[in-house]
Amino acid sequence: MNLPTIIVNFKIYEQATGDSALSLAKIHEKVAKETGASIGVAVSAMDLAKVCENVDIPVFAQHIDPVKYGSGTGKILPEQVKDLGAYGTLLNHAEFQIGDDVLKASLERAREVGLYTVVCANTPEAGAKIAGFGPDLIAVEPPELIGGDVSVSKAEPKIVEDTVSLCGDDKVLVGAGVKNGEDVKIALALGAKGVLLASGVTKSDDPYAVLMDLVGGLS
Ligand code: G3P
Repeated sequence: MNLPTIIVNFKIYEQATGDSALSLAKIHEKVAKETGASIGVAVSAMDLAKVCENVDIPVFAQHIDPVKYGSGTGKILPEQVKDLGAYGTLLNHAEFQIGDDVLKASLERAREVGLYTVVCANTPEAGAKIAGFGPDLIAVEPPELIGGDVSVSKAEPKIVEDTVSLCGDDKVLVGAGVKNGEDVKIALALGAKGVLLASGVTKSDDPYAVLMDLVGGLS
């Protein structure tokens, strides 16, 4: 993944699932192409095939399970995610937390099939522990700020600084409440290598304009 980066988690917002997932992903691709910025999207497993086939930016699964071919009804098989063309996967999002053993096994499976990993952490200390499991990036997101209007960059700068100092340079994204280029700029100034956000883009009436503004914060 080229850093710094902006990764937008589509979650399962109505505006970011089904046909809308593809049109929204295409807007991300357009902004990435126009600006040269590193932009990724994390889409629902249900939309992964369609989005991977039709856009040329890094596409992430929102989750994988540490399973192999065989039994495992309903699980998300890492090989299938890779074969669909996904670049990587999120893991352990605040809305889909997994225990340490499952996380370690999931990271191992991701490495085996060649998926880039972004693991979410609620706190700097959790991030430090997760760093020991060897993910590619750690995204620190205080759960109480997720989906709100106050950005972690502005409300909790120490969380960003502490995570960077515990996890190392080139390892940390920040998320929760990120809405605009200023939030991105502050995050980078605090040592982060990018942002992970959702509602600021997915719920916007003009995602193109929001993305252009966010990208402005990268420089
Ligand atoms: O995965 C990103 C996320 O949890 C942050 O959500 O809506 O606060 O940008 P949001």
